[in-house]
Amino acid sequence: MGVIAQALLRWYDKHARDLPWRVRPSARAAGVRSDPYRVWLSEIMLQQTTVAAVIPYFERFTTRWSTVEALAAAEDAQIMAEWAGLGYYARARNLLACARAVASKGGRFPDTEAGLRDLPGIGAYTSAAIAAIAFDRPAVVVDGNVERVMARLHAFESPLPAAKPALYALAERHTPKARPGDHAQAVMDLGATICTPRRPACGVCPVMPACAGRKAGIADRLPAKTPKKPKPIRYGIAYLAYSADGRVFLQRRPERGLLGGMLGLPGTDWSETPPRPAPPFRAKWRPVGEVRHSFTHFHLVLSVAVARVGATHGFVKPELTSLPTVMRKAVAMGLSAFQNVG
Ligand code: ADE
Repeated sequence: MGVIAQALLRWYDKHARDLPWRVRPSARAAGVRSDPYRVWLSEIMLQQTTVAAVIPYFERFTTRWSTVEALAAAEDAQIMAEWAGLGYYARARNLLACARAVASKGGRFPDTEAGLRDLPGIGAYTSAAIAAIAFDRPAVVVDGNVERVMARLHAFESPLPAAKPALYALAERHTPKARPGDHAQAVMDLGATICTPRRPACGVCPVMPACAGRKAGIADRLPAKTPKKPKPIRYGIAYLAYSADGRVFLQRRPERGLLGGMLGLPGTDWSETPPRPAPPFRAKWRPVGEVRHSFTHFHLVLSVAVARVGATHGFVKPELTSLPTVMRKAVAMGLSAFQNVG
């Protein structure tokens, strides 16, 4: 094993973050294995989402569904409701598809990178992470943290995303045959706690003596990035129908597309120019303001219109439902408009 991998593992043995899906290095040394179900679930949740945001969701999911079979038997709407607020809802749909595929084959996850990769929602990063962390395969695990650590260690100045293959090759060189799962998590923890995007804490870094970026005084500027195009703005209108007994009208969105399968307010498409009004039914709609929300590929300006209605067939109490964040914002704005009017 190289000296860098060795130093990282020694650091990880002392400073690994205590995370609910993780088997501590001391327990692992005593023979405790990690549960592939928990590793898989955590890695799906951690795609595009921070550890801090994921922890409460992970706890709720594993309390409610403690095995992959239990998750596979859940209803789609239950999963989507528990996922609400975590974003990137295609992950939740793939999560269920994956759980059902695994459950239908006896409830065991494949224990190789290639086998894992064939499952829904599992790409190159996730298959490598699960293979390493759950099955001790020497897979090369590269996420944004790992790219940053590699770029700095090697003072590698080519910008992302073009630099991805080169950074992968560097990560491959560091990946040891022994304890590859702990190694992967060590690099991720280093990136999250010491080798942070801004103001890295080089003074306490276990691999500082080997860091070329630090030596050259450019660590905090790496990795370089090719500037992204600014996100376009899209506009939409959402309609909140509100009944005297505090119920609102919600619709499940189509499975495909943004927020697919989630509950939400009815409304227009989201387009590059403000759309024509398209209320879901006749009522005295009145505009009350707009909410803003950013998605991966655009910013949304969503105008909210409200109407008080009599009939409430199919209406629900908003506090009893789980909504995507943008819809939660729109409902909150609509309801506060009613409260202000009294
Ligand atoms: N980010 C994604 N997966 C992680 C893990 N297993 N440990 C720390 N950070 C992570």
